[in-house]
Amino acid sequence: MKLLASLLTAALLAVPAFDALAQGHAAAEKPAAAAENHAGDGKAAGEGKAAQPAKPDLAQGEQKFTAVCVACHGAGGNSGVPANPKLAQQHPEYIIKQLQEFKAGKRKNPIMQGFAAQLSDDDMRNIGYYVASNKAKEGFAKDKALASMGEKIYRGGIADRQIAACAGCHSPNGAGIPAQYPRLSGQHADYTVAQLTQFREGVRNNSLQMTQIAAKLNDREIRAVADYIAGLR
Ligand code: HEC
Ligand code: HEC
Repeated sequence: MKLLASLLTAALLAVPAFDALAQGHAAAEKPAAAAENHAGDGKAAGEGKAAQPAKPDLAQGEQKFTAVCVACHGAGGNSGVPANPKLAQQHPEYIIKQLQEFKAGKRKNPIMQGFAAQLSDDDMRNIGYYVASNKAKEGFAKDKALASMGEKIYRGGIADRQIAACAGCHSPNGAGIPAQYPRLSGQHADYTVAQLTQFREGVRNNSLQMTQIAAKLNDREIRAVADYIAGLR
């Protein structure tokens, strides 16, 4: 808790950087080609945004991510903290959807609601495409017996209780199917357990499909499938 509190403080202290960036952001026009030459170019990041269907600006995404989000989600979005999801290599559309829904209060989380509230639509797109561009670190299953039970559920579902195979939507290797079905492979088991439990209890209420699936899973099945997913690659 103390660690979280100090991370939170550190992150909040960094928030003024948002305003400075946001102002620079609105100030100038930017060539649409800017997204292509982002290679670690911190300078360009303070400059304006492209007009409406804008290309994502990865340099701006990186800058904002590194100013605030990195404290909890790790370098490049490879969180090392089991409660904080890995974001690297996730589909950008999924990241953007979650940020919009945190901001709107449709997905409820007191920490993320505050951070998402600071982000404009452009910020969300830039950050989404930035984290998507990073390679996810692989994870590991911790309990062989549990993971093999999880594998059965993931690949085949539980037919006699009409539980659909996770692989059907999240793909056999957990890479997901852009843009609708998120990547799961390598995700921290603690985070996955928390999400499935939140879907089941109606705390996370932003996906009817997942609410219906999680409603049928018991605690052990949730732990099993989460442990399998952590080692999936
Ligand atoms: C103080 C720690 C903290 C900070 C700082 C933080 N996050 Fe989060 N983030 C979390 C936690 C915890 C969750 C899981 C929330 C839940 O359980 O629903 C989360 C969830 C998310 C998710 C959902 C991921 C998924 O797989 O569904 C996204 C996207 C996200 N954060 C992006 C960001 C961005 C972008 C920033 C910076 C603007 C940021 N976060 C800053 C802690 C943090
Ligand atoms: C019918 C399609 C479908 C099936 C089958 C399915 N899912 Fe999902 N799942 C989704 C969708 C869509 C989302 C994205 C929800 C959103 O947009 O917030 C999702 C999201 C998730 C998330 C949240 C990811 C994150 O980063 O927060 C987890 C965890 C998850 N699913 C696990 C599972 C598991 C485990 C199974 C099998 C027991 C499963 N899903 C089966 C469609 C499906």
